[in-house]
Amino acid sequence: MDLDTDRSDADIASSLSPPDNPSCDAESCAISRRGLLIAGAGASAAVAAGAPLEAAAQAPSPASPKPQENLVATSRVTLSVNGQPHTLVVDNRTSLLDLLREHLQLTGTKKGCDHGQCGACTIHLDGRRVNACLTLAVMHEGAKVVTIEGLGTPEKMHPMQTAFVRHDGYQCGYCTPGQICSAVAVLDEIKAGVPSHVTPDINVRPLLSIDELRERMSGNLCRCGAYSNIIDAMADVAGIPGGSVPGTGDRRSA
Ligand code: FES
Ligand code: FES
Repeated sequence: MDLDTDRSDADIASSLSPPDNPSCDAESCAISRRGLLIAGAGASAAVAAGAPLEAAAQAPSPASPKPQENLVATSRVTLSVNGQPHTLVVDNRTSLLDLLREHLQLTGTKKGCDHGQCGACTIHLDGRRVNACLTLAVMHEGAKVVTIEGLGTPEKMHPMQTAFVRHDGYQCGYCTPGQICSAVAVLDEIKAGVPSHVTPDINVRPLLSIDELRERMSGNLCRCGAYSNIIDAMADVAGIPGGSVPGTGDRRSA
């Protein structure tokens, strides 16, 4: 941009130069002002481009950074899954759920929330139910895993699977594998005397009751709302009469 095109540099300088500065005559001040404007414009461009002024003055540019190395850590893990040994090399961050679904194609175990909140991924790990999305596969070297595929087959169903069918315990079926794995483990927990939040006296063996079943299944969510039929199926397998009556509490020793 050309400023003050109708006025000479000397005119501009004389109007701007301090009258008490004897070393600043009109011509030299005009040159200084022009030089200052040019230098200022250059500096502004450099700053706008993100280049430090000092760096811009230095001729050689730094060498481009090396491409990032592949830092993914892997481990070998051996598991027994539904009675079959499997040895895999996996990224250390692989969850047990992803190992089952993505590496072994055992897609009966479902991924709902992937955050331990829905229970869709429930499996049996060394005889206890766990949320497979919450644990890393490499933490379980040598463990025994049972998924819904290992619990029963269409030809030979587990009694809990049969009961779910008999009592219409599923609708879309997405949560059902986790519900069934959980339900089987719940009855085993009660049998083993493991207390729950609603166990009236933790010094005595927990009793089979609808309240116990409901409390212990509270980590398995069903967006279809098949809860009452699921409890009916569990009560049927456990031998509790009147399963469909909410909280009847027909208690009997496990
Ligand atoms: S997917 Fe694991 S708890 Fe929801
Ligand atoms: S049956 Fe559909 S989510 Fe439970």
